[in-house]
Formats: sequence, C-alpha cells, structure tokens
Amino acid sequence: MTAIRIVEVGPRDGLQNEAVTLSTADKLTLIQKLIAAGCTEIEATAFVHPKLVPQLADAVAVLAGQENTVARFSVLVPNQKGLERALAAGARAIAIFTAASESFCEKNIGRSIESSLTEYAEVVKTARQHGCWVRGYVSTVTHCPYEGKIPPEQAAQVIAQVAALGCDEVALGETLGRAVPEEIARLLEKTLLHLPASQLAGHFHDTNGRALEHVDVALGFGLTCFDGAVGGLGGCPFAPGAAGNLATEKLALHLAALGYETGLDAVALTDVGRWLRSRLEQRPDPL
Ligand code: HMG
Ligand code: MG
Repeated sequence: MTAIRIVEVGPRDGLQNEAVTLSTADKLTLIQKLIAAGCTEIEATAFVHPKLVPQLADAVAVLAGQENTVARFSVLVPNQKGLERALAAGARAIAIFTAASESFCEKNIGRSIESSLTEYAEVVKTARQHGCWVRGYVSTVTHCPYEGKIPPEQAAQVIAQVAALGCDEVALGETLGRAVPEEIARLLEKTLLHLPASQLAGHFHDTNGRALEHVDVALGFGLTCFDGAVGGLGGCPFAPGAAGNLATEKLALHLAALGYETGLDAVALTDVGRWLRSRLEQRPDPL
C-alpha cells in the first residue's frame, strides 16, 4: 500500500481568515485532537505581523504549548524577523511563502517575488544552520485574485527558484480554488521539468469543490504529499475569493478509498472538524 503524507494546515491556514479568533487553549486542544486522530505533520501557526493576522497573534504560546515529540510542528515565516521570533519560540520546522504572481506577492507580504526570494535565501540559510526542516510555498500557481490566470511556465519558474533556495519541499498553492484539473496537469508538466514529484506537495483550496480531482491528477504525476485543513476551514485574508482548504477528513477518506495509507482516522477527524466548527460558531459539515 503506498503511503501518502498529509500535512494538516488547519491550525494555521484554517484559522487565519476566521471571523472568530480561537482561544489559545482551544488551539492547543485542537492540536492534541489532531494528533490523536493520527496527524504527524501539523502547521501550527504563523509568525507573521500580528496586526495583519490577529487570529494567529498567539503564535509563541501555541508553539510553546506543544509537548509532543512525535508530530512535526511547522510554522509559517514571512521574513527574517518572523524567523527570529519562530526560532526564539523553539521552532524546528518552518515554511516560507512567496507567489507566482507579482500582485498577490505584494498584497500578501509587501514585496516583489524577486525581493522575497532574496530575503528567503538568508532565511533558509539561517533556518538550516539551526537544524530546521524547511518548506517553501508558492501561492497563486494557477490563478491570482488580481491578475487572473497564471501561465504554468511562470509558476514553474518560481517553484524552481524556491526549491533552489534549499527547501526540503515546495507546496503548490492553488490559493483561490478556481483551477480545473487540466490546469493542475499543465502546471505539473512544467514543474516536473525542474524538480522531482517527491519534492512537491499539493495545497489545493476547495472553493469550487474540485480539490480532490486535483489530488487525483497530482497522484498520477507521482506526488505523495498533500495538505488538508480539518473541517475544510481556511482561506487567505489577502486573497479575496479564496475559500476553505480541502477538508482533511474528506482527503483521508478519498485516499483510503483509493487504497493509499495515510495513518489518519477519518472518523476521528470528522469529529475534530465538527468540534472546531462549533467552537467557531460554524455549523455546516464539509462532507
Ligand atoms: P511589513 O510591514 O512590510 O514589514 O510587513 P516591515 O519589514 O516593513 O516592518 C514593519 C514593522 O513590522 C516593523 O515594526 C517590524 O519589526 C514589524 P516597527 O519597527 O514598525 O515596530 N515586523 C514584524 N512583526 C512581527 N512579525 C514579523 C514581522 N515582520 C516585520 N514577521 C510582513 C511584512 C510580511 C511581515 C507582513 O506583510 C505580513 O505579516 N503579512 C502577512 C501575510 C500572511 O500571513 N498571509 C497569509 C498566509 S499566506 C497563505 O495563506 C497562502 C498559503 O496558504 C498557500 C496558498 O494557499 O497559496 C501559504
Ligand atoms: Mg492556503
């Protein structure tokens, strides 16, 4: 049975765009519930500017509250300052993030793609010196909220540049959830000219309900790592129109039905998703 890695991004991507800010205690409970449901890779929080993303302003407390040594807790880091804060809080795995489109990059992190890559080169170097595992995200790989469709060659170029910084893996951010599976296929054709499928992860938002189709396409190209957010929560505050992530429980059920091993308990995850949505005062079920 082929094993697929699932990175649970709910505590970060799932919560960063919610109207209700989850308490630190509830975030710690959420993470414990995710671990109990089999999650071994969890993006726990983000060391971004707390005024811009107040939902994650308690990043230090969330990271400090982790006692588990089984799971890998990664944290989003937008710049050197974010890395310094993350390292001081004990981070052992980080995720940097840029974009395939200039406009989104500017809106999201206030700089050009090129300038972000220059700063991230130093961030990755320092993180590596501290023994950190490093993921690189490239957002808007098929569509940008400001520029529309992104040519796959353009996205593949940025993905290759992010990999060249020394990232362990590069996550393909379909930020808006607007792609059709053929666009994911064209993106992967171009991307795999630069780096192997084993270094790529699929991060597909599910706005149009097609994320599982993207997963199927990506599996066909040999990818073995995908992101999910429990309860199907999430979106980016700087990407108007971006809705929830692919629900981890939905992803786990789908992969199990295809005969893949994820180590996740989809039933337990469904309960975690329901609990989380109730804490956020959201009722609808993603399944
Ligand atoms: P900036 O204002 O351009 O930063 O923000 P600056 O370097 O000009 O500094 C201004 C002030 O901010 C200074 O403070 C810095 O110290 C402080 P002052 O001297 O004025 O008192 N500062 C910071 N404080 C705390 N933490 C930091 C930090 N950096 C500077 N890290 C910055 C630039 C990138 C920080 C800002 O634009 C930011 O935080 N953006 C947030 C972006 C974000 O969180 N987006 C959502 C996540 S990305 C996403 O969701 C996509 C993804 O899921 C994949 C996909 O779906 O495609 C990953
Ligand atoms: Mg995202």
